[in-house]
Amino acid sequence: MLAAAAILAEAGQPEVLRFWPQLSEEERGSLAAAVEQLEPAELRDHCRAAARAAALPPGHEPGPGPHTGPQALQPLPPGVVGSAARAQPAELNRWRERGLQEIGEGRVAVLLLAGGQGTRLGVPYPKGMYDVGLPSGKTLYQIQAERIHRVRTLAAERTGRPCPLPWYIMTSEFTLGPTQSFFSQHGYFGLPQADVVMFEQRMLPAVGFDGKVILEGMGRIAMAPDGNGGLYRALTDHGILDDMERRGVCEVHIYCVDNILVKMADPVFIGFCVERGADCGAKVVGKAYPTEPVGLVCLVDGHYQVVEYSEVVPATMQRRNPDGQLTFNAGNICNHFLTVAFLKAVAWEFEAQLKPHVALKKVPYVDEDGNCVKPEKPNGIKMEKFVFDVFQFSKNFAVWEVLREDEFSPLKNAESVGAKDTASTARRALLWQHYRWALQAGAHFLDHSNNRMPACTQLQETDDPPVVCEISPLISSAGEGLEERVKGREFHPPLLLTE
Ligand code: UTP
Repeated sequence: MLAAAAILAEAGQPEVLRFWPQLSEEERGSLAAAVEQLEPAELRDHCRAAARAAALPPGHEPGPGPHTGPQALQPLPPGVVGSAARAQPAELNRWRERGLQEIGEGRVAVLLLAGGQGTRLGVPYPKGMYDVGLPSGKTLYQIQAERIHRVRTLAAERTGRPCPLPWYIMTSEFTLGPTQSFFSQHGYFGLPQADVVMFEQRMLPAVGFDGKVILEGMGRIAMAPDGNGGLYRALTDHGILDDMERRGVCEVHIYCVDNILVKMADPVFIGFCVERGADCGAKVVGKAYPTEPVGLVCLVDGHYQVVEYSEVVPATMQRRNPDGQLTFNAGNICNHFLTVAFLKAVAWEFEAQLKPHVALKKVPYVDEDGNCVKPEKPNGIKMEKFVFDVFQFSKNFAVWEVLREDEFSPLKNAESVGAKDTASTARRALLWQHYRWALQAGAHFLDHSNNRMPACTQLQETDDPPVVCEISPLISSAGEGLEERVKGREFHPPLLLTE
């Protein structure tokens, strides 16, 4: 109690203990332990910053950058951008081989950001454990684990020796326990346990508009993870950079848990970034339409940055180049390449300069009588750092543009009529992709009368593909290696290709 009270007094938050006399011994112990994790000066600054943000008119919460006004935006210089659609096959091959070589030599790791609460999806377990309804019933974690297996196999074929490819998973207080049990129940999906490293990001208290820490129970502070940009502190907190060094890892592919099409340690992306000597790279997709609400990768006052669509005026969004392409077209998909040297520079030198983003949220709280209240409108502030805010520190930035239908379909929202980025849209995106791969590899599908069905490759987000075809990531991670299994063969759907 004494230590906790002193911390809270110094931070200007003594009210956190206002229900102390009513708490049980156990509740007191856990509240004191939670408070003792907090650093008083940081807590004070955090609460003040939240109160300042709350005092601003709506829409004027402080942005991350030094200046995000529309005039300051410049498009990406063409020299930094590569494109999967426009690259020559020989170039793509060269980058793929280079990437596989890096992976095979143990220089690459993948890092999953899985600490989010997934409030929009609204399930009481980590998003990675979600089953989007594929015929195989595989969860996002399983799909990702199997893609790692496949890349390890492809890389090992190049070098002739086993390939490690460690998988670092950043979790939070919400996701660590269930993720650990899930992996252990599933035998780490066949991956060596030593190559799956889970670590936990920090949590921050949610703060009311009056600058006071919110209690979600009489003895419980409402805490939220510190954003996916909490990665950089978590890396130092848990000695992850040392672990990477010990393993000889030099390049890291960082991605979000919810993109069902993510290419784990994509060799082409890695080869592209390594060949360019990039310290930091972003995979992007072209916008679906000019005003699509996605973060834009661009330059702000000469620094690479992701700018929220809400900070860009409509005229800027609509701007086109002489060739007709949108000038600001690089949609961020939270899929990044960072060298370990750059990660170290960020973690040790630049992290403190990352400005938290402010989100107004509905945070359940206890009223003065100790009753739990679920607010109907936002009553609190959560402050989060974003993983991509480090682009500004890059000395050699690279951008790799890929096709959305090949690489991006996030699971964000609960199913409801017309909702975007749901389990249905994710499932369809994957099934369409596998159907296309099967056709490209020369498969034919038969209808009930044994007639060959015409190929249909026109992706429609709202419709299922004409046949159900799911291909295990253990046999193909990007459509490769399928011809020997399907070329010239006829199949009655559904087709489940497994190892
Ligand atoms: P989102 O911004 O989609 O947040 O995260 P979320 O928490 O998953 O979902 P909502 O907004 O509550 O509905 C993008 C990625 O960043 C990770 C998520 O797990 C996801 O992979 N993330 C987010 C973290 O790792 N830590 C965080 O604190 C926040």
